[in-house]
Amino acid sequence: MNSRRNFLKQISLGALAATAAPSILTWALPQQHSVNVPGEDGMILRSFRFIDLETPVEYFNTWLTPVPHFFVRNHMFEPSELDAADWRLALGGEVEKPLTLSLAELSKLETHSVVNTLECAGNGRSLHRPQVPGVQWGKGAVSTARFSGPRLRDVLQRAAVKSSGKHVMFRGLDEVPGKVPPFIRSIPIEKALDADTLIATHMNGSPLTRHHGFPARALVPGWVGAASCKWLTEVKVLDKEFVGNFMSPAYRFPNQPGQPGEAVKPEDTHPLTALSVKSVISGPADGASLKAGKVSVHGTAWSGEADIAKVEISTDAGATWSPAKLGSEQAHYAWRLWSFDWKPGKSGEYTILSRATDTQGRTQPSTAVWNPSGYLYNAVDQVKIHVV
Ligand code: MTE
Repeated sequence: MNSRRNFLKQISLGALAATAAPSILTWALPQQHSVNVPGEDGMILRSFRFIDLETPVEYFNTWLTPVPHFFVRNHMFEPSELDAADWRLALGGEVEKPLTLSLAELSKLETHSVVNTLECAGNGRSLHRPQVPGVQWGKGAVSTARFSGPRLRDVLQRAAVKSSGKHVMFRGLDEVPGKVPPFIRSIPIEKALDADTLIATHMNGSPLTRHHGFPARALVPGWVGAASCKWLTEVKVLDKEFVGNFMSPAYRFPNQPGQPGEAVKPEDTHPLTALSVKSVISGPADGASLKAGKVSVHGTAWSGEADIAKVEISTDAGATWSPAKLGSEQAHYAWRLWSFDWKPGKSGEYTILSRATDTQGRTQPSTAVWNPSGYLYNAVDQVKIHVV
């Protein structure tokens, strides 16, 4: 508890003095890791009570996001005590052989790596109209990393899942304040047994940091970030979907698009799974004033469980579209960087749009499907610039 208070105190000092004294925010983990609080590094602080940090879009210029620039989404307090030697992962429920694994035992299992774009279901919530309550994310609750660790499937096989096992539940070690329900969610057994679903212990080659779920988290590639439970402590095989706040009413989407602003009945919704097709312009910045000449329009695009087929750019507010060049770095669940060289003909105001299409034939819509919780915002992206 004390270390959490100290941490919050440090963050608070940081919020006040971020530019003046960034080094005071260095925070020691029990295992002698030292992590610079990402908030000091140009990240956007969206929530202070439970740390929520958004990545500024101008950081979307590398295929893998450096860990200090990787967005952070916490529903409650991060665990204050995390000791790698004491940590255990319990596996139970609809299995023949319940088991408990230490970090050392987990690390003896075969390691697999997945480059995954993790996006919060609420990314872009502030852009929905009418506006909806919740963390007012802009465009940056999304980042990409190489996650590594044993396959969840290998661990489930050791526990021998019974034929009654249909869903797999994850529980995190978050510290739950007051009456807030614990962060527990489940995924269907098919996704849990997928060869790319991991118990990740590493991110970009280094052990997970506390913000991202040290010492182990679920990594459910291509799905909304909420599926990837951090500070994993229990994996339980269930005969049905887990019933709890973070499965319902949270993280559900209307079966049919309704009228913006209209309430949706719970029975007309389903749990969120894969991410939508989406692109974001990371430069030039919205509102930029540029000299006439060559302009590099660039950004990134992703689509959950599908690949990106093309990204198109319009520099005339949607009247005409041209293909962007896709970057060479790619992986099935990862975003694709893209760029477009443009020579504005004359000075004036321009609206630049980007629109992605995926290998399942889905194209980013001009307006996102409005929903009461503001999930899966994926409208065509736009920036307005001035050419002098
Ligand atoms: N796991 C736990 N235990 N507690 C949480 O609050 N937040 C989820 C998910 N896993 C959360 C969690 C949500 S909503 C998202 S988007 C991702 O973690 C964010 O992962 P990150 O903070 O590593 O970017």
